[in-house]
Amino acid sequence: EHNDALRKMAESFAVTDDKMRDIIHGFHESMQAGLNGDRNALPMIPSFVRRRPTGKEQGTFLSLDLGGTNLRVCQVTLNGDSTHKLVQQKFTITKEAKEKTLFDWIAQCVSIFIEEHDVVPNSGESAVRCGFTFSFPIDQTGIAEGNLVMWNKGFLVPNTVGRDIVRLTQDAFLRKHLRVKIVAIVNDTVGALMTSCYTYPDSELGIIFGTGTNSCYWEKMSRIGKWKCDNDKTGEMVINTEWGAFDNQVSVLPYTMHDNKLNRKSPNHGLQVFEKMISGLYLGEVTRNAILHLIDQRLLFDGRSSTILNKSYAFDTAYMSEIVSDESDDLVEVKKVIQQTLEIPSSTLQDRKVVKNVCLMIGNRAKRLSAAAMVAVLLWSRDSHTDTVTVGIDGSMYQFYPGFEKSLYDNARPFLGDDFVDNKLKLRLSKDGSGIGAAIIAAVTSD
Ligand code: BG6
Ligand code: GLC
Repeated sequence: EHNDALRKMAESFAVTDDKMRDIIHGFHESMQAGLNGDRNALPMIPSFVRRRPTGKEQGTFLSLDLGGTNLRVCQVTLNGDSTHKLVQQKFTITKEAKEKTLFDWIAQCVSIFIEEHDVVPNSGESAVRCGFTFSFPIDQTGIAEGNLVMWNKGFLVPNTVGRDIVRLTQDAFLRKHLRVKIVAIVNDTVGALMTSCYTYPDSELGIIFGTGTNSCYWEKMSRIGKWKCDNDKTGEMVINTEWGAFDNQVSVLPYTMHDNKLNRKSPNHGLQVFEKMISGLYLGEVTRNAILHLIDQRLLFDGRSSTILNKSYAFDTAYMSEIVSDESDDLVEVKKVIQQTLEIPSSTLQDRKVVKNVCLMIGNRAKRLSAAAMVAVLLWSRDSHTDTVTVGIDGSMYQFYPGFEKSLYDNARPFLGDDFVDNKLKLRLSKDGSGIGAAIIAAVTSD
């Protein structure tokens, strides 16, 4: 009975190579449709970024980097020789900011930073120039304007959807009398790509595997069918795929009842379905659902759960990391998490093996799906990569989930070939975060 239930569960979370192929194919169809303006397809948002950084950008800028977990306020000096100096302060985004006061909270953080670091406008300028990396989808209408499409990743600030994010931020600055002018707004993936391009000119993709997940890449203007802002179809532009929204209809993804339970209860129900199967905010919750399902069948902990285990989002993805990296015979770390975090006083070795197994199933599915998405975009833009390709990546999953980077290489092999994976593909942490990327865009933007 035990084995049967676990086998079924493992099957439901499995992503075979054939499945990967279907997903890659689905990605290509949806990318194409999105570039042509189909609203049911991937958003494929034009970023207005058209020039690759050269490393020669110069000047000192303020940059804001609003990720899923932290706001980083940075002062970035670009030296003009591919090097930079960065002074930054990190603020953990509060629950109140996420649900209510975000823009005033950002202004408050900027004000603290400016005061502590004595940031003043350059001589001859009335305000400090600032690049803003923003990790939510906005429909850009210019390099420094764009309306919020929606919140996700647990953010829900009232009366802001459909409004210009730069304006909202700028208004909050005004209320605090801050002399700061936002000259560019970019998605966090674009920030990561710019940062990567600054050091590695062969950078083609920027990816975030963090609280949420998304990517951007260099696209030929001639392929962006929906581009209507000017008649210039030459050259290239960075496209923000918003791949977290892939297959919201669930026609190809290996979606289980445990995903469905999460999806149904989430504030952005029916949206960001792919993101909910991959990213840090959600993996622990899918795992909690799967564990409860086994408990309900009395296949785990003798049918007992705990107050904490019954609480939504109480099982953080970080615990999965601890569990899957426990290689000890007795699974002592797993035991600790079960006792101390899940507050289940006793567990058998069998229980611990099952818990580890469930974490592996869900973690491995996330790894396979992440690789499928990366491969899809790489294959899509392949003809532009003649030689090596660098992918600039950031986010907590990439940095901290055990074996995540290696699995991207390994899972890409059947689709990209050994030679490409071994010799041409370079996955690199987009170091110092997207803050530098925003400064680079600020540097090349004239107002
Ligand atoms: C940061 C980047 O390091 O990673 C941000 O600078 C990005 O721009 C973030 O949004 C994503 O990671 P997480 O885990 O905070 O969602
Ligand atoms: C979410 C956002 C996207 C962002 C990603 C990673 O998917 O919609 O804009 O890039 O999270 O932070």
